[in-house]
Amino acid sequence: MRKLIIANWKMHYGPVKAGAWVRAFRRERLPKDLDVAIAVPAVSLAAARASLGRATIPALGAQNAFWESQGAYTGEISPAMLLEFGVTMCLAGHSERRSQLGETDEMVAKKAAALQKAGIAPVICVGETDAERKKGAALKAVRSQTLAAIKNLKPDGQAQPVFAYEPVWAIGTGRACHPEDAKAAHEAIRGVFVKTWGAKWTHEIRVLYGGSVDARNITDYMTTTGIDGALVGGSSLDPRGFGLLCRAAVPA
Ligand code: PGA
Repeated sequence: MRKLIIANWKMHYGPVKAGAWVRAFRRERLPKDLDVAIAVPAVSLAAARASLGRATIPALGAQNAFWESQGAYTGEISPAMLLEFGVTMCLAGHSERRSQLGETDEMVAKKAAALQKAGIAPVICVGETDAERKKGAALKAVRSQTLAAIKNLKPDGQAQPVFAYEPVWAIGTGRACHPEDAKAAHEAIRGVFVKTWGAKWTHEIRVLYGGSVDARNITDYMTTTGIDGALVGGSSLDPRGFGLLCRAAVPA
């Protein structure tokens, strides 16, 4: 399976800076065996697309989408709208949205299903809080979020779901998760979708790690069995630094 690295800019870079980031990143040399995507703020999709032109590397992604395709949903953005920019993947259920915007498991499931139906790969984020880990309930939390999110989803060659294990306590803290702990969580996630969809999907569906990934620790994750790539926040904001991280991820 090809590895995948996704830049999650979060709420950084409006159209002006997004365009400049993409132009700078396109000068970076990237490993041939690596898939790279950028998840940009919705208002920056047009600028990112304009700077990308027809280039498909990096793939263009979004950070959130609503589950309806149109209607009276003030402020929301539909998967169909994202498609107009050539978006091929979109995050669903990032922990910042779960904790600060009240996104529930049920909402994440609806978003993931709507994205897939529109032909956009949902990148489903799951992960335990610090309290859950301290209680020894990390894997339980990860399993239950995964199971809830895939309720209306199916494996699909066109818009294959991707999972991202992101322990909440590791996001933006510099406290990266030990690769062996991440491995256990990845196995738990795989266990859930394999039980639901069948064993053949083990090697078809990617499970990424996210949480304080940088150019120094990326190799530790990429060389751990069952980790198929990374979702990178802070270390994706500098295009040259992110290029370096991508090169470190897959040795030439
Ligand atoms: P971080 O964020 O790399 O800044 O820890 C990762 C994420 O939240 O996707």
